[in-house]
Amino acid sequence: MSTLQKAEAAEHALSEELDRIVLKSVIYTSGERDPRQPVVRPDNGKLVMMGHDPRLPKMPERPTLMDFFRLRFGPTQHMMQSARLAQKNGAGEKVVMACLVHDIAIAGFIRGDHGYWAAQLVEPYVDDEVAWAIRYHQALRFFPDESVGYAYPQMYVKLFGADYKVDPYIERDAQYARNHKWYMTSRLICVNDLYSFDPTLRVELDEFTDVIGRNFRQPKEGLGFDDSPSAHMWRTINWPSKYL
Ligand SMILES: [Fe+2]
Ligand SMILES: [Fe+2]
Repeated sequence: MSTLQKAEAAEHALSEELDRIVLKSVIYTSGERDPRQPVVRPDNGKLVMMGHDPRLPKMPERPTLMDFFRLRFGPTQHMMQSARLAQKNGAGEKVVMACLVHDIAIAGFIRGDHGYWAAQLVEPYVDDEVAWAIRYHQALRFFPDESVGYAYPQMYVKLFGADYKVDPYIERDAQYARNHKWYMTSRLICVNDLYSFDPTLRVELDEFTDVIGRNFRQPKEGLGFDDSPSAHMWRTINWPSKYL
């Protein structure tokens, strides 16, 4: 058996223990498997997963942003350290709020084009400037700005290679952002982003209770259950294995 087949077998055994069948979304597996191949649903008489996945901690009925941080996101120290650094550097609260959630797409949703996804997730609940800044940190992070001491990240040379060239849409969006009145808000995410990886530092989410309270309009129905344009995205994070 290949490594992939072994992994699939282990996963199959694990899902056998569930009383419902989980079929993964194409985006989870595309590349590892050929998305054009038919997916066969095991014919074992089981129902399919249509809500809460028992392998995950249960979310409250009306989940808040903090519940997603604690129960659904992967490691969040990076965002909290960025937010704390922004505070330390004297940034305004919009920047601090933006830093606190700038990478939520990586932490809990979809990695590729994470700035755009994160902006869309929070857009209905934060100031327009905050969502805008998050959207454009995606593109601006690839371009230096000496006026604020922001250089092209050395980490990117390591990650993407010295000859990496950004896609044309990133270049276009960075250009656009450069001339926008909110440019600096987005740029400050990059500035506070880069230097915030400290494995010895431990920031607690409670530190930001007030910042979130003042800058995030928590829907009373709970994130995912209001009628906002991104509610379905929050529901998908809550119930990632839902069949339909
Ligand atoms: Fe980011
Ligand atoms: Fe980041």
